[in-house]
Amino acid sequence: MNLSEWHTRYRQQASWTRSLRQHLFAQSNAEAAHRILEVGCGTGALLCDMPTGPLVYGLDHDRSALCFARQVAPASTLFNGDATHLPFAANSFDLSFCHFLLLWLPNPLAALLEMCRVTIAGGWVLALAEPDYGGRIDYPPALADLGKLQTAALQQQGADPLIGRRLSALFHQAGLQQVQSGVLGGFWQDEDRPTTADDLEWSVLRQDLHAFCTPTELDALQKVEQQAYQRGERVLYIPTFYALGRVAKT
Ligand SMILES: C[S@@+](CC[C@H](N)C(=O)[O-])C[C@H]1O[C@@H](n2cnc3c(N)ncnc32)[C@H](O)[C@@H]1O
Repeated sequence: MNLSEWHTRYRQQASWTRSLRQHLFAQSNAEAAHRILEVGCGTGALLCDMPTGPLVYGLDHDRSALCFARQVAPASTLFNGDATHLPFAANSFDLSFCHFLLLWLPNPLAALLEMCRVTIAGGWVLALAEPDYGGRIDYPPALADLGKLQTAALQQQGADPLIGRRLSALFHQAGLQQVQSGVLGGFWQDEDRPTTADDLEWSVLRQDLHAFCTPTELDALQKVEQQAYQRGERVLYIPTFYALGRVAKT
């Protein structure tokens, strides 16, 4: 997939967390913040939706994603850098957050400690979306293999598919206080329920699973999913955790 397709995918994922984001930004007083940082901002899918008022900063280690972000979120200040060695002085931000980042890091605690360091005492650190593929539900049963294969593919790419269940522990290990955490719920209604398999989801799946399945096997699975959607019986639920914590006042 090219960057524009990845951006469309990230915007889709951002739409899943929009109302949660609004709720958690309100809890962490984001509107009144002077400076907000997104670590692992990618193509700017969240940066382009940020509240106006605070100065918004984004950081990513992928320069090409940052070039894309510069176009879609021109009001943000962007930095190239590593989540575990943030190029900012201590106490630079009122709120630091990430979205679908920690699963990709070999040392997510190091990134959280950095987010704590650059956030003021009494400020907030927020991880908005970290999935847990171990709790994935696929229905009908013929699609269970899809979940197992995708989990294996993520592991092969170096991701931790079980990061979600560790999130609260990581926040406490980072010394964050007043930690609250939870899981995004699922809600399906016929008016919104897709009637066809999601092409974007399948582009990601085909990219992830090319070493695990032949194109013919993937075609067969896509057909099973397509029929399940048409019958209104497809369930795909991946528990996606969030956590919010406050940097200790010294
Ligand atoms: C799944 S994308 C999410 C992008 C964005 N947060 C969103 O939700 O649209 C993960 C992003 O984290 C970035 N990333 C991964 N490891 C990183 C690291 N060690 N330091 C900085 N960015 C990193 C990737 O380049 C990628 O842009």
